[in-house]
This record gives sequence, C-alpha cells and structure tokens, in this order.
Amino acid sequence: MSIDHAPARPAIDDLPGWCPSAREASARVVANERIAEQTYVLRLDCPEVAAALTPGRFVMLRDPRTGGPLLGRPFAMFETWAGDRPAGYGTPDAFDIGYVTVGKLTGLMTAWKPGDRVDLWGPLGNGFPAFDGRDLVMVAGGIGQTPFLATARELAGQARYGRDGRPAVPPRMSLLYGVRTAGHLAGVDRFAAVDGLELRLATDDGSAGHHGYVTDILAAEFESGRRPDAVYCCGPGPMMGAVAALCRTVDITCYASLESPMACGFGACFSCVVPVKEPDGGTDYKRACVEGPVFRASELAETAFQH
Ligand code: FES
Repeated sequence: MSIDHAPARPAIDDLPGWCPSAREASARVVANERIAEQTYVLRLDCPEVAAALTPGRFVMLRDPRTGGPLLGRPFAMFETWAGDRPAGYGTPDAFDIGYVTVGKLTGLMTAWKPGDRVDLWGPLGNGFPAFDGRDLVMVAGGIGQTPFLATARELAGQARYGRDGRPAVPPRMSLLYGVRTAGHLAGVDRFAAVDGLELRLATDDGSAGHHGYVTDILAAEFESGRRPDAVYCCGPGPMMGAVAALCRTVDITCYASLESPMACGFGACFSCVVPVKEPDGGTDYKRACVEGPVFRASELAETAFQH
C-alpha cells in the first residue's frame, strides 16, 4: 500500500558534513533481476553516484511510495555500468547493488521495475583500501560477495572506480565464496569473467564446491604455505570472526566489512556502532557508516563479529 505523503528525509545540506561525497538523488530503476535463491541485482541509473562509488562503499535506498524506511537501508555496490555494458574504464551512468530478501524493504524491492524512481543517498562509507600487494584473498559469505566483483575487476585492470580512479596492479587473487546451498550462489558467471581471479566455492550441504565452511578453504590455503599480503572479508559476523582468527594465527592483515544495522548512514544516530580495542585494553566504539564499514580486523573487539 502506498501513502500520499512520504516522510521527508533531511536535506543533504543539513547534514553535519561527515559524508562530503554523498549525494541525495532520485534514481531510475534500469533492471531488477533475480540471480539466485532470494537474491537479486538491482541496477539504478544515477551517474553522479555511479562515478564516485568504489569497492566496499554503499548507498542508502528508500521506497518513495511507502516512505520507508525513513532514512533508507544500506546496500553495497556490485558493479558500475555505461549503457548496457560494464563501465570498465568508461564513464559510468548506472550501478548494480545486490540484495537478499530478508526484511520489509527488500520484500518491496522485488516489485521495483524498470522506470520506477527510488530515493537514494550515497556513496557512503570508506570501502576497502586500495590494494598494492602481490597476493590478495577475498572471503565472502552469502550476499557478502557483493563488494568483491568490483574489487577483483579493479585489480585485474578491467575497471576503474571513483572520480580519480585507482591504480590497477594485477596481483594473484582468490575469492573464497561460501553459501548454504548451490541455489544461493549469486553472480558466479560475473566472477568467472574476471581475468586471473581464482574462484573457490563452498556450500554447507556440499551441493557445490567444498562441502563445509568457506573458512575451511582459507585454513587449507594457510596450511599449504600461502601467505597473502591481505585478506578482505565480508559476510556473516561469525564467519568474519573466524577469518580474522585464522589470519591472526599466521600474522596476515585482515580487513572486515561489517554488516551493522544502520538507520541513518551518515553518522548521526549511532545505531551502527561497533566495539574497537583501545591501546590500554579498554573498549571504544566507532560508527560503521562513516568510520567503516571496512575495519582492520585487529582493531575490532571480539564482540564486533556477533551480528
Ligand atoms: Fe546512523 Fe551510523 S547509521 S550513525
């Protein structure tokens, strides 16, 4: 059911200035495609935001017909597009986000169709750091694979993201991607098209790839002697906690993109705070929306991985 007068969001100029690159926009839906069980890719035409997105950054989306949620929900960028092709090194006019139907908004989103307008705010957050090493392992669980398509394409030299672009130095890189069952594997064809990306799959039920947790594959990589310069991970908290613990045992730098609940996305509500370690052994808090969502895992308290 729609309502005539959706609650207004704060104007972007009224914000405290924690997200200077963010834009408020009405984006046009270009496509909305189911790509796996409960998993969709939504393409939005919004050139000014598409041009500023980098891997791991996100946008807040809101349904203008229902006005909900008031300040939107966060969704990570999957890929940018120029017309009907991935933008690569061209100027993007649209971008994809991935989503899983788990709540009210994502349930509504499945009905969005080409030509619809949606409220959008972004890009927000810090994203994954630019990688300049020789070997990168990415570990994804569920919809946590979303930021790694752009990460891998950038490192393969197949795309550039952000207004100033970032250097593309092809390293060895692997994506370890775990889901419950084969039907939940999303975007595998796109990952397979990335030059030089080693794709390793895991399913809880053994219906595709390794039968077991994706962290089993990471542990086996370490046991074989592989020592990547960094591990990037995104997915359920317990999975990322396990990844961080494995990295700690072999002294590998690990970055985790936290899927914290967010209400505003711009640093004002503190609904997204995550516990971080203080040098004196105490605990402080940082906002995942502006100081994250990507954190160096060694900075995070153990309880940061509980969600
Ligand atoms: Fe409001 Fe982070 S979501 S401060």
